[in-house]
Amino acid sequence: MSEATGIRVVPSGTGLAASVEGLDLSRPLDEAQWQTVIDAIAAHGVLRFPAQQLTSQQLFEFSSRFGTPEINVGGMFQEPGLPQVMILSNIQRDGKPVGIGDAGQDWHTDMSYSGTVAFANVLYALEVPQRDGQPLGETRFSDMAAAYDTLPDDVKAKIEGRTATHDFEKFWEMMRREKGSPRPPLTAAQRAAKPPVSHPLVMRHPLSGRRTLYANPGYAMFVDGMDRAESDALLAFLFEHQVQQRFVHVHRWTKGDLLMWDNLRTIHKAIGDYGPTEPRLIKRCQVMADKVLPQGTAGAAASASVHA
Ligand code: OGA
Ligand code: MN
Repeated sequence: MSEATGIRVVPSGTGLAASVEGLDLSRPLDEAQWQTVIDAIAAHGVLRFPAQQLTSQQLFEFSSRFGTPEINVGGMFQEPGLPQVMILSNIQRDGKPVGIGDAGQDWHTDMSYSGTVAFANVLYALEVPQRDGQPLGETRFSDMAAAYDTLPDDVKAKIEGRTATHDFEKFWEMMRREKGSPRPPLTAAQRAAKPPVSHPLVMRHPLSGRRTLYANPGYAMFVDGMDRAESDALLAFLFEHQVQQRFVHVHRWTKGDLLMWDNLRTIHKAIGDYGPTEPRLIKRCQVMADKVLPQGTAGAAASASVHA
């Protein structure tokens, strides 16, 4: 317990994630509270703030303290009047879905497809699906600092200073092709808004100084400037390495949880193991890394921080 703030940060024990107790996020954070949250996310990568009661506006205001909120290029299921807040849900009203029903259901890093990469994604659970008294629809996280640290030296050498190309359409089309997602194909305007971008494969984390592996099977297409067969083999190795059980933390949701994760440190995956009569309702606000990365480097050249 911190004397100054009354906040208790309780690590999960898995090497990733902590519970942050004693904060009411409906009220603006003061500087000391903000610093405690930033230090906790730098140390633990995923933070759970239990038992919150928030309006969408309050979710937006809390999230905004950590970076500029993103308006998702999918353009669907935005909170009316507050497009930075998106609704994730399998609930239907009058035969129409109230939210995106299958967000994030395979390993990915939010917004690695974006010129300005994401720092945090902030999800607030209003309804958690249940069966036989157990929560469904968990979210899994894998620790990319641990994944980097445990890479063989020759692979570390191979990826040092390299970039990979990430493409929004890779995940979107995978969901349509392999998971029967009802999402429509991207329009030409959506594709033009999010063209493929390059990011370093190794980041030096701006908060912790640790090296992290910045690659994910959701969006990473190929290693730039590398023979395609060699790139395919290298990415296949990284994609297998990075999701080993020893790096994974599972978040089982409780209604009222606010979950905030660091996309520079983790990859994640939503588990769609619940049915249409088991309602899930989550509101989300994700913020860019424009506040935490050195000025002007939040985009392609988060690389600047790699060599810093
Ligand atoms: C996301 C996401 C996971 C979940 O919103 O980016 O991956 O469990 N969501 O809903
Ligand atoms: Mn996601």
